Amino acid sequence: MKKTFLFAAAIVLAAASTSNAQFTATIAGGPHDLSNGSAVRNSDAAINGQTCVFCHVPHGGSPSLPLWNRANPTGAAYQVYASSSMTGVATGAGIASGISGACMSCHDGTIAVDVVTNVNGLPFGTGTTGGTVAFTAGPNRKGTYSNGTGGSANLMSGGSPFIGSDLRNDHPVAIVYQTVQTADPGHYLPVTQVGAKIYINGAAGQLPLYGTSTANATVECSSCHDSHNNSLNGTSGGFLRMANTGSQMCKTCHNK
Ligand code: HEC
Ligand code: HEC
Ligand code: HEC
Ligand code: HEC
Repeated sequence: MKKTFLFAAAIVLAAASTSNAQFTATIAGGPHDLSNGSAVRNSDAAINGQTCVFCHVPHGGSPSLPLWNRANPTGAAYQVYASSSMTGVATGAGIASGISGACMSCHDGTIAVDVVTNVNGLPFGTGTTGGTVAFTAGPNRKGTYSNGTGGSANLMSGGSPFIGSDLRNDHPVAIVYQTVQTADPGHYLPVTQVGAKIYINGAAGQLPLYGTSTANATVECSSCHDSHNNSLNGTSGGFLRMANTGSQMCKTCHNK
């Protein structure tokens, strides 16, 4: 009898840990909460529950990415998607130095997710590594890590979040959209610029491009993903900027 009760309690707990808490509109509690949230947990006293610190820092950050708190990958090892029907050209270095490089600094598996440049509460520039900031596996974790239970090298190494350095099977990024649209205006929707914001305006919503003018703005990981909001895609997550019902996300850019 007692055994049956414990078993039932275990099922309830398992159901609770797979609840929709991870489909949050905020970092906290979602897959990008690397503090004490749901994905990869950090309990270091210097981190103290901060969620932004794994990506941004208020001082001493990288100016080319938004106040970025991580080293950027070099892109040297990236194998890039290319095809005979493409107008755009991307290079590994171009991907690494752009907004997509920000994502790849964790998702290509070459830089540990817990290595940041500055941590509030520690002297500037000393940085910190998994050696001093302990990680343990959270309940909703989908990735595997080369040292997933804590320690010095939390490199993403497998599972659905892992992209790796072979990008030949991934949608191209760091492509100047306007060049493609000018070459094939019948198949690509036009770019819009309002103030500093450059985007494609589809029936289902807007998707951003990244650059200083329509002439240089590129498609990046963040054109399709919003790394702050895991709820825009309904309850299936994936940090997508919109649901892809009827391929509406694809058709925001591709007129097919
Ligand atoms: C997993 C990495 C990651 C985390 C964690 C993260 N950000 Fe970001 N953030 C990015 C990236 C990448 C960009 C640039 C791409 C874009 O515009 O989405 C960005 C852009 C921004 C911008 C400028 C563009 C915009 O969307 O307004 C602000 C402001 C910002 N982040 C604030 C925050 C704050 C505050 C937190 C913590 C609550 C946070 N971010 C946590 C990755 C992250
Ligand atoms: C933000 C705009 C944008 C979105 C959204 C988008 N694409 Fe693309 N896509 C592009 C651009 C730009 C290229 C590069 C085309 C070129 O260089 O000729 C491209 C390339 C491609 C290619 C390769 C084309 C070739 O000639 O080899 C395929 C296939 C593709 N996209 C499919 C998709 C699918 C499927 C989706 C939805 C999941 C999607 N795209 C969403 C802009 C976008
Ligand atoms: C600081 C490291 C870090 C950065 C930077 C980062 N991510 Fe992640 N991301 C993670 C981790 C860790 C996970 C998965 C945790 C797990 O479940 O194992 C994840 C999960 C995801 C997922 C899967 C969400 C799901 O529903 O399972 C997507 C999609 C994603 N990231 C996209 C991005 C994009 C796009 C960027 C750049 C705009 C980015 N990430 C930047 C660490 C990062
Ligand atoms: C053209 C739009 C587009 C671009 C650009 C794009 N993605 Fe995605 N991504 C998607 C869609 C749609 C999905 C969900 C379908 C799937 O899993 O293939 C997805 C899935 C993912 C997942 C798996 C999420 C999960 O829940 O398993 C990760 C991680 C991810 N993307 C990261 C990235 C990174 C990093 C980049 C930049 C190198 C990037 N994406 C560029 C559209 C895009």
